[in-house]
Order: sequence, then C-alpha cells, then structure tokens
Amino acid sequence: MTDRSNIIPKPYKIEQLNGNFVINKQTLLLLNEFNQKIKKAAEIFADQINSLTGYEIDINEFEEKKNVKDPILINFPSDSGDSIDGEYLLVISSNKIELTSGNYAGIFYGFQTLLQIIYQVVFKNENYKTAGLNIPCCKIEDSPRFGWRGLMLDSARTFLTKDFIKQYVDLLSFYKMNILHWHLTDDQGWRIEIKRYPLLTDAGAWRTEEEGTINGGFYTQGDIKEIVDYAEARCVTIIPEIEMPGHSTAALAAYPEYSCEGKLLEVGTLWGIYKDIFCAGKESIFDFIKNILDEVIELFPGKYIHIGGDEVPKDRWNECPLCNERIRNEKLESIKDLHKYFLKRIKDYLAENNRKAILWDDFEEYGIIDDAIVQSWQGFKPAVEAAKSQNYAVVSPMEYSYFDYDLSLIDLNKVYEFNPVSPELPAEFSKFILGGECNMWSERVSQDQIDKKVFPRLFAMSEVLWTLNSQKSFLDFYDRVRTHFKILEFLGIECSPGSKPVKIKPEPETSIKSFKIIIECKYDFLEVFYTLDGSKPSVDSKKYTSGFNVDSSCLIRAAAFYKGVMFGEEESKSIIFHKGFGTKIRLLNSSSEKYPGTGINNLVDGLTGSVNFNDRYWQGFEGDDLLAIIELDKAIALRKISINFLQDLHSRIFLPNEVHVEYSLNGVEYFKINIQQHIVSLKKQLPFIYKFSSNLFNINARYVKVFARNISLCPEWHPDARQKAWLFADEIIIE
Ligand code: ACM
Ligand code: ZN
Repeated sequence: MTDRSNIIPKPYKIEQLNGNFVINKQTLLLLNEFNQKIKKAAEIFADQINSLTGYEIDINEFEEKKNVKDPILINFPSDSGDSIDGEYLLVISSNKIELTSGNYAGIFYGFQTLLQIIYQVVFKNENYKTAGLNIPCCKIEDSPRFGWRGLMLDSARTFLTKDFIKQYVDLLSFYKMNILHWHLTDDQGWRIEIKRYPLLTDAGAWRTEEEGTINGGFYTQGDIKEIVDYAEARCVTIIPEIEMPGHSTAALAAYPEYSCEGKLLEVGTLWGIYKDIFCAGKESIFDFIKNILDEVIELFPGKYIHIGGDEVPKDRWNECPLCNERIRNEKLESIKDLHKYFLKRIKDYLAENNRKAILWDDFEEYGIIDDAIVQSWQGFKPAVEAAKSQNYAVVSPMEYSYFDYDLSLIDLNKVYEFNPVSPELPAEFSKFILGGECNMWSERVSQDQIDKKVFPRLFAMSEVLWTLNSQKSFLDFYDRVRTHFKILEFLGIECSPGSKPVKIKPEPETSIKSFKIIIECKYDFLEVFYTLDGSKPSVDSKKYTSGFNVDSSCLIRAAAFYKGVMFGEEESKSIIFHKGFGTKIRLLNSSSEKYPGTGINNLVDGLTGSVNFNDRYWQGFEGDDLLAIIELDKAIALRKISINFLQDLHSRIFLPNEVHVEYSLNGVEYFKINIQQHIVSLKKQLPFIYKFSSNLFNINARYVKVFARNISLCPEWHPDARQKAWLFADEIIIE
C-alpha cells in the first residue's frame, strides 16, 4: 500500500495496515506508567487535539481502566535506559492505538506523529465532529538520524516576543526538532536580564533608530524560566548565545569600561561588524563575563552555552596597551592568539561549571579550541577539521542553512540536499557530527516576516536531520509538503512558496530591435507556462518549450508547475522598448569589471535591475561617477528621461549626490536640463531603487548626456567608512 500518512519528517519505517481506528468523544488515553512527566506529554497532545477538533480526551492510569474499549495506550517501560532519545513505535490497529518508547522524547514524538495523521483526517472529513476521526491503521517505527536538530532565532537584531518564541517551540517540536539556539546578545541589542548588571538591559536593550524611534526589548529572568520550562516539556533544549568578544556593542554601550578605549558608545543601529569589542587586556572583563555566565547557567539547565566568537575585528586590540601587555605576559604569538586565549578562558570557565561551550567556526582567526563544540557556518571544512581532531561539531553552512537568505539562493530543494556529514570526512569521525541547524538571522526582517523565511524550508531541515539519507526523496517529500502547507495555514503561520525555480533570460538582439526570451527552470520535474499580457500564468497559459522573440514592450510572467499546481514563486520581467533602446552609448568612466550589467549597452538594453544588486542587470562604478553619452539614430522629440539607481547600504552601494541631464542636436553644444538631488536617507537599511526623472517637453535632440555624481567614499558612520562607495545604475529610459 502506498504511504498515505504524509508525515514530516519521514519516519524510518511505515507499514500501512487494513482498517481504521475511530477516535471519538469517548476515546480514553491510558498511561501504563503514570508519572508526571509522561502525563505532561499526554496533556500537551490532548490540548493539541482539543484545539484541532474540539474533542476532550481524558487521561487515565491504565490500572484503573484496564477494561476500557478502544483506548490510546501509552507504554513507557521504566527500565529501557539505553533507548535512542526520540525513538518510538506507534501501532494503530482497529481496536487500539499503542504508542511505546523508552524515553519521554519518544512518547512526545509519537504523539506528534499521531497528531500529523489526525490533521489529515480532519482536512479530509468535514463530518468528523459527529462521525469520529477515522484513523487509518498502520505501524510506524521511528528514530532520528541526528541528536542535534536545531533552529537559531536572533532576538538581538529584532526583539522577538515571548509568545513568538513559545510558538516556535511548538512548531519545532511538532516537526521533531529539539534545539532552539537563541541569539540573545549582539551589537544591536542585549536581550537577557542579568541582575548583577542592570544596565545591560536598561541601556543595552534599547536602540535609537535613525528616524528617532526607540526599538528594543528584553526577557526578564522570569520570562526565560517560563520559556525554558515550556520548551523542556516539548523536548526542545534552549541554547543561549552570549556573544563575545565581538558583536558586543550593546553590552559596551551599557558598560563602556570593558572596551579597549572606554569611550561612550551607542547601541548599534546598522547591520555589519562593529569594531569596538571586549578588551582582552583588562582582567575585569573576565569577571564581568563570568558573573554574567553564572546567571545564564542558572537560567538554562541545558548542557551547552554558545559564546559566539565570530567576526572579531582586531583594530582596537592592536592599538590597546593592555591587550598588547596581555600578549607579552601570556607569551602569545599574535593578536589572533589573543582571540583564542579569550575564548579558551571562557570555555574553561564553563567546563568548571559543567557546561560545554559552543563557538562559531572562525578558525582562520583563532584555530581549533579543544573540547569546545564548533558550529560550522563557513562551509563544511571547519566541521570536518573539528571532527578529525575529535571535537564535536554542529553543521550550519551559510549556503544551505541561512534562512534569512532569499529563496533564489536557498530554496526548499537546496535545503533538502543538505547533508551535515561531508563526504570529505572519513567515516570513523562521523560520530563527531552532532547534527545541524538552520539559522534565522533577523537583521533584515521584522518578527512578522520570520514565518515566511522559516517555512517551508524548516520542513526540509527537519527531514534532513531526522530521516536517513537513504530514505529521502525530494518528490516524495514535496508531495507531503503540500499537506503541511495546509496545516500551517490552519495554525496561522505564513509560508513562502519555498522556491523560485524559474528564470527569465531576455537576450537583446539590438540589431533587429527584438529580444529572444529564454526561460530556464531549475528542476526538470516541472513544466513551465508563461503569459505576455500581464495575466497570471496557469497550466492553461502558453507552455514554454523553447526560446521565443518579443518585439514590443511587455511584461513576461512565467511559473513552474508540478502535477498541475504552481511550484514555488512565479517570475516576471518587463521589457521596455523605449526610444533609447538599442542605440549607441558611450561611458566616459568605464564600469567595474565586477558589475558590467549585461555589457556595454547595459543602460539602453531595455531591461531593468531589481533590488538584488547581483542580478547582473546593474552596472557598478566603484568610487567613480557615471558619465554616459547616448547617440540616437536621429534627432527626435524627447518627452522624459529617467534613470534608476540602486541603494544597498550594506553592500556599500549609495544613490548619487546629484544627477545632471543634458541634450544636444549636434553632439558638440549641450544644454543642461536641470540638476536633480534626492532627499532619501543614505542610512535606509533595506535596498531600494530610486528613479531620477527629467521632463524635456518635447525638445528635439539627438544626443543625451547623463552625469551622476558618486558620493565617492562611504560616510563616517558607515562600518566601511572612507572606503570607496559604489554607484549602481540601470537603464536610461528615454521617452
Ligand atoms: C555568523 O554568521 N557570523 C555566525
Ligand atoms: Zn584592550
């Protein structure tokens, strides 16, 4: 029989059996071992069923209700000490459901599997409230591939409410993920109450944004205890991350005496790497951190504390007499050794307190620290190196597991292909790979945008970390994902389409003033359909088979379909046949080789760049101005000239200070139209496109000159102050 159970992550073994078990208002849940812990898992399950169906399932001790008919029976043998954490056996037969595991996590996950099955019964049968839930009989044996199945949430960049965190604990546990790595401190905010240092939150939890608004928040120790307890009952271990010695501006804004220079600082408002970090020369810093960690240890009973360690610029340490004295006194070889010294001291302190330190993998900077767990984010190599030196690693490479990245970089399929155990790692060391994590950095999102980043990619991560590689198949997975979209909809969680499989590639054929349109699709199991009239593509639209030509302005919309249903997001591209299209253009300052756009004719090729600076439609000028002269085929009446510029602060791309447009009939004598400036803040965090437009009132001209003044250098407040600024231009639209 085919698998109808649609469970994510896919269980180890499912056997479909004949018949149904009916859950109705009389169904009882019986526990053979009536301890409070197991009762908790049963209560959570009963609550979940209640929210879904309105049924109230009673929980009883087996001994008291031995003779009850058709129970859900929970076997929790008290003597199975060596069971794998999370493994369970769920047998649904027509006269009982029996769930067995030797550990709490197994019982909890068995319930979640049953709940996933019940969801589907509910979706299929409107009538269940009177007729009962007909659960198809089956036998499921299940066990996880990895013990570390994590998600990182970043409360430092964007404060996330307590309820939001608890909802994520629910979601993680529903998908059998067991680690919530909680990024609690960074340059832009300190989020955990530390009683001994009240300024950490009084000052460090709040930042004044550019517009003058105050942004922030923190968790009291009471909040944290509540969340930790809530998570524990749902088999989620919370791992707090306290960043050091870098990413510490918020702490230093509260206690500037712990930086090298001791200067007053503001809590960070920009994203990037800040240069002021904890001073490694002052002995007092170690007391400060130890005192903080004492309170952290008290709050988080888990074995692990993450202490960051990544992205530590050495500028201040290089200049600091105390840091240099430390290097001499400790006979360290270099400033990089000071980084290692710092982290190792803290790791040792945690070890004295029975805790293990986790560190981001910046080995190039500080090398391997024995007995610290490495979180590999810069590819797989650090995890491989750590494992080969018999140190444990958690694997979360940027290219697979940074869920803040756009779907065009990391889609559902890409996450699904992730394997935490690199083929480069000799098999005998694979036991040092604890598992993996997806990381949801929050620099560029508000809390309400996180769901769409995390889902559906978390489905793939959960299956990667739970299901054996040999049991995985993307199409089988994707069939199940479609059911889970519905579950999330029911739960009020927004989901993204999970993929951007289609790319529209117009190839200008300027000599004949036409475009050849190529539509590429990432996956060959999909069919592509497109429209040219602005309507939404469907399976009734034109099917794409090979390139076609367009020779007038249009909006091309294309989408991929799987079994008749749109797969992922559609793509669109507009083609503008303006008066300058395909004419001659000369650039007096050539663009950077790195960002040539579509080539020499980029600014008159009829195509416009998106907010992604790397989309190959933008022409970039590093430190230089733009000076372009366009020669039309003949003199014509010009109505309007527009030119788009991109700003992407974090990629050092800024709008020009000013834009001049001039015109000429003969190419010698030019007339200025006007000088345009903008009043947009250079500090806007998210990338955006700004259009400068000039009206020409039907002036007759053959030549158009456009000058845009680069701001030249990044402003003083920018993390890359005084480095060359980029100017990104695309399409001079002549109407
Ligand atoms: C990191 O992304 N800096 C760990
Ligand atoms: Zn110092």
